[in-house]
Amino acid sequence: MSEIPVIQILDKKNYFKQALVPYPNSTSLPPLTASSLRVRTEVLSVTSNNFTYCKIGDVFNWWAVHPLPPNTPAPYDDGATYGRISAWGYAKVIESTFAGVSAGSYVWGYLPIGTLPLDFQVRRGAVADQVIVTEPYRQKLLPIYNRYTVFPASVGAQIAAKTDGVAYDSFLKLMHLTAYLMSQFMYSPDPTRSLNLTPAQADLTDATVVAFAPGSKVGLAFAYLLQNQRTAAKPRHVIGAASEASIPFLRGTGLYDSVASTLSDPLTTLASLDSSEDTDRKVVIYDFGGRAGVAWKWAAAIGARYPKTRYVVIGMEVADPEAQASGERPEKPDGLEIDQVMADTLLTAAMGQVGEKEFFEGFEESWQGLRGEGIKGFKVNWGEGMESVKEGWDRFARNEVTAAEGLVFKI
Ligand SMILES: NC(=O)c1ccc[n+]([C@@H]2O[C@H](COP(=O)([O-])OP(=O)(O)OC[C@H]3O[C@@H](n4cnc5c(N)ncnc54)[C@H](OP(=O)(O)O)[C@@H]3O)[C@@H](O)[C@H]2O)c1
Repeated sequence: MSEIPVIQILDKKNYFKQALVPYPNSTSLPPLTASSLRVRTEVLSVTSNNFTYCKIGDVFNWWAVHPLPPNTPAPYDDGATYGRISAWGYAKVIESTFAGVSAGSYVWGYLPIGTLPLDFQVRRGAVADQVIVTEPYRQKLLPIYNRYTVFPASVGAQIAAKTDGVAYDSFLKLMHLTAYLMSQFMYSPDPTRSLNLTPAQADLTDATVVAFAPGSKVGLAFAYLLQNQRTAAKPRHVIGAASEASIPFLRGTGLYDSVASTLSDPLTTLASLDSSEDTDRKVVIYDFGGRAGVAWKWAAAIGARYPKTRYVVIGMEVADPEAQASGERPEKPDGLEIDQVMADTLLTAAMGQVGEKEFFEGFEESWQGLRGEGIKGFKVNWGEGMESVKEGWDRFARNEVTAAEGLVFKI
């Protein structure tokens, strides 16, 4: 290996602050242990999801997945202050001692942000093209993060060509998986088969769906699934409630029946959808990361008028961890029924319900639908190299990345 590896290191408390740290002593690596892959990240994306990993990283062990390398220079060797976070994308297998995965092939999954190679021991998964990480230090992680899909060397040509398909795989596939679990297994088209809700709770038939951060990748995937791949228990309206800047893009996607500003009045917005003043209708609010507690504010108004209101928590906004919250922030209204989406738990339960192999067959087919069609008006923005990742991270933190743009990097 001739390149000098470089990794991103973050201040764990103020994760808007980052450094790119080179490892000049890591140009030659120790022999790879048995049943292992040595991979180098080649494609990664930056979305709100990466910042969420930072924000609640201590709760889910996310800072511990890719520890600081032993030869990290000061001050970044202080693991109490600094850490590494992960991203989804492709890595090249540069060495392998695991039969069935050869050097030159690729893995898709949860990867370190940087060019320093990562070694992990694996076993074969139940699905033919998947491997599961068996490293003891990673067993504290939720299982979803230890599952990698193997791709042939030919993916390298698509990466070199920076195709939209590779970009979508990086920033949207995991989000589509989450949305698919929600749409097929939690708010199932057959509500009697919901994994974790009663049929009455899970049923979206004729419901009004209101999505916050509707331009998030996971929100777009959910809207796509409701519109294009759902045959039963369909909602009556799917509304995107977005920041002003996201509205033109969201209207252009055609994925929402209507798009409203989060500044508009919640009850007027709902009343404008149909003339009947049917307050008995079900309203389900999906919060994919609306800003400044706006979804709670809407939930309070809507819940007071429509008693059959549910609230679903999926994501959180990206906000400066050092900024003092200004003004009063809306809080969770009393009495509201809340569902929490946890992709990992849903995945395990869904595989239990239909079988692991069958689950991934269904998911891949669904994913190829969205990947092939693409999202109207959405711009893939490729960067190259770690400096460009750093710049993308800063742009996201400065709130300069709009919903219409997907940041993906070849490193
Ligand atoms: N629960 C689970 O299992 C699970 C699984 C996957 C993802 N998630 C979470 O879902 C959330 C969305 O992830 P994603 O990757 O799909 O997000 P994304 O595409 O980056 O989301 C972009 C949207 O987030 C809102 N936003 C809030 N603060 C922002 C900021 N500073 N910069 C840009 N946009 C901001 C914007 O909505 P407006 O324009 O309307 O303001 C924007 O359209 C994350 O919190 C992620 O961790 C949860």
